[in-house]
Amino acid sequence: MPHGCIAGTGLAVPERVVTNDDLSKLIDTSDEWIRQRTGIEQRHWAVEGETGAGLSKIASERAFAMAGITARDLDAIILATSSPDHFVPGNGVFLQRLLGVGTIPALDIRQACSGFIYSLSVADAWIRAGMFRRILVVGQEIQSTGMDVSDNGRNTAVIFADGAGAVVLEATEDPNRGLLAFDLHSQGEFAEMLWVDSPGSMYHPEISHKDLDEGKQYLQMDGKEVFRHAVTRMPESVNAVVGKLGLGTGDISLLLAHQANLRISEMVQRKLELRDDQVYNNIQKYGNTTAATVPILLDECVRGGRVKQGDLIVMTAFGSGFSWGSVACRW
Ligand code: UT7
Repeated sequence: MPHGCIAGTGLAVPERVVTNDDLSKLIDTSDEWIRQRTGIEQRHWAVEGETGAGLSKIASERAFAMAGITARDLDAIILATSSPDHFVPGNGVFLQRLLGVGTIPALDIRQACSGFIYSLSVADAWIRAGMFRRILVVGQEIQSTGMDVSDNGRNTAVIFADGAGAVVLEATEDPNRGLLAFDLHSQGEFAEMLWVDSPGSMYHPEISHKDLDEGKQYLQMDGKEVFRHAVTRMPESVNAVVGKLGLGTGDISLLLAHQANLRISEMVQRKLELRDDQVYNNIQKYGNTTAATVPILLDECVRGGRVKQGDLIVMTAFGSGFSWGSVACRW
């Protein structure tokens, strides 16, 4: 039976760089606080005219070049985002249009921070089912335009940022390469710990001036609670996914963990007793790009020569939902 194997990776971020000092001119924060509490030094925010579909196209074309294919070789697109360019339809179709790839299916996944891992699992299942042989999988966010860049929003405005990462997933029959195991979970009882309340169809109307005045359109996060669950669930899930292969964390060549906060990543590393050369972080440069952090990490590692043939790469993520999960991939 075939399964999915990553044949190419790419990333794209807006050109505009926003430093911690830039933010401290807009809100009551400081470079020192942001570095100490999150590890972030700068992030990229879109300027007018830059879109999530546009960034996804650039990231995808870099992945096509690495895989030695063109957009016309794709059988399907899966795009993970919690910040689509429009409320309806999803962003997959806008990416499809920009790539000029006819009528192939384009599916959106709204799993926020773990969206890329979930998307890989769906793409892999499509390949295993024999439905498709080559799928573009993208994680992408433009979060800067929907953030409360005021003192009220300072626990999110300093963290979240924009970017896109893409991979080409191809069918392989080689049992020793590609995506070998997944571990996926959700726990809806914590949905309100990290959410955007409105617009929501449960309200009549779905958004009101009162809601807007109260800031219900902004991401609300109980940072401490999210932190506490993230540092438990990601290690648990990494152990589970390598356990499915009959391996342990000592067998991991590289752990790529969702970039939410450098302190979270360091705690995950400590809990899993991983050496520094078994992990890679880049939140310092990009901030938290939600669905895009994992494919951006992967692309930097692949292009930076950190990944060798035969390496066991584990990718893990935790976020809104709560939803979390991991994938183990033999390079
Ligand atoms: O990707 C999705 C998943 N998201 C995450 O995993 C995020 C998880 N949570 C976090 O990363 C952290 O909880 C934060 C970075 C959001 C906050 O860090 P913290 O260490 O939990 O800080 P805190 O919320 O407990 O706030 C500590 C202090 C407070 O002041 P007082 O009450 O002690 O006087 C805050 O008002 O820091 C203050 N504070 C800030 N100060 C300067 C909160 N945000 C800021 C800020 N700048 N941006």
